[in-house]
Amino acid sequence: MAVQQDVAVRAIARVNLAAIERNVARMRRELRADGALCAVVKADGYGHGAVAAARAALAGGATWLAVVAAQEAAALRAARIHAPILVMGALSPHELDLALAADADVVAWDESFVAAVAARGGGSVHVKLDSGMGRLGTRDAAAATRVAEAAAATDGVFLAGAMTHFATADERGDAFFGEQLERFAAWAQPLRSAHPQIALHAANSAATLRDGAAHFDMVRLGVSIYGLDPFGEDPLARELEPALELSSYVAALKALAPGESAGYGRRFVAERATHTATLPIGYGDGVRRGLTNNADVLIGGRRLPLVGTVSMDNVTVDAGAPPAAACGDEAIMIGAQGDERITAEEVARRLETINYEVTCGLLARVPRVYHRDGEPT
Ligand SMILES: Cc1ncc(COP(=O)(O)O)c(C=O)c1O
Repeated sequence: MAVQQDVAVRAIARVNLAAIERNVARMRRELRADGALCAVVKADGYGHGAVAAARAALAGGATWLAVVAAQEAAALRAARIHAPILVMGALSPHELDLALAADADVVAWDESFVAAVAARGGGSVHVKLDSGMGRLGTRDAAAATRVAEAAAATDGVFLAGAMTHFATADERGDAFFGEQLERFAAWAQPLRSAHPQIALHAANSAATLRDGAAHFDMVRLGVSIYGLDPFGEDPLARELEPALELSSYVAALKALAPGESAGYGRRFVAERATHTATLPIGYGDGVRRGLTNNADVLIGGRRLPLVGTVSMDNVTVDAGAPPAAACGDEAIMIGAQGDERITAEEVARRLETINYEVTCGLLARVPRVYHRDGEPT
């Protein structure tokens, strides 16, 4: 949804917190009534702003938050967010100090880490089985059980959870997802019989939508709560509402005669008389250079092609003749205007990447402006 240009800056990411709330509520409906939803707000809430996203997710029905870095947990606490936080990433000794000081749960996969938690005065740990992702966690189920038993037996350490992460949940039809699910269930269910307090969690957004058997006690949802589709398809088809809109405006309009060019390297040379509209947004804002001659922009409710090289601070758009744009017009890079929409998924396809990278790639120079369905917050 296009919100009126309310802040006079070159580029803005407007984030609809009501959409995040609704996405969380929509994903909750996939779960059993007693299933918990952990909102993943790492990487500054996938570019949306971690603190604002966390608050919106909690308002929408999340009861846990997850981040990857200890510093991210500390930032949430500094913003007076009191919900349980899981720090999912690997932690150096210094980062472990920081995570525990933020009263966050941490992830363990060897016994020395449990001892390190105890040595720092204790904390809550979730044991991670590497059921096939091949990154963090132990692959050895017996070793994972030993880590869990050590946590349960260590004074000051609370065994809070058992977890894994899927490698192919978003690749529908592949068999590996089912193999990981079986491996995790075979390890975690007996562990929970021995330790009934622990929460089992495995599913990301794709796994949650794909298979109820992967939900266990809690799901960890990132991309879907921002209204991005975990399968790279149209989010609206899964009733997910994109929360972020990226816009700029027409700062200059130039008449080009045939043979005249725009931008570095003259990668756009006019074949006919036309006009270029210059938008003051570029790769220094997170609009990737791979979109050179390879994107559309919405101006006046129409799709206009981005032409020429994306530079650090500007892009140019072919506005045609007579020009379909005027100086001061709002220009949408991601979002909707009139009947047209440009999704992060479309941008990702053009860049041969995933929607996650598109929103995470928005840089700090772009102010995030929060609203609820158009009402400033
Ligand atoms: C361990 C872990 N769990 C959950 C998630 C959330 O995944 P998604 O954004 O696909 O829902 C992530 C994100 O990559 C993750 O690393």
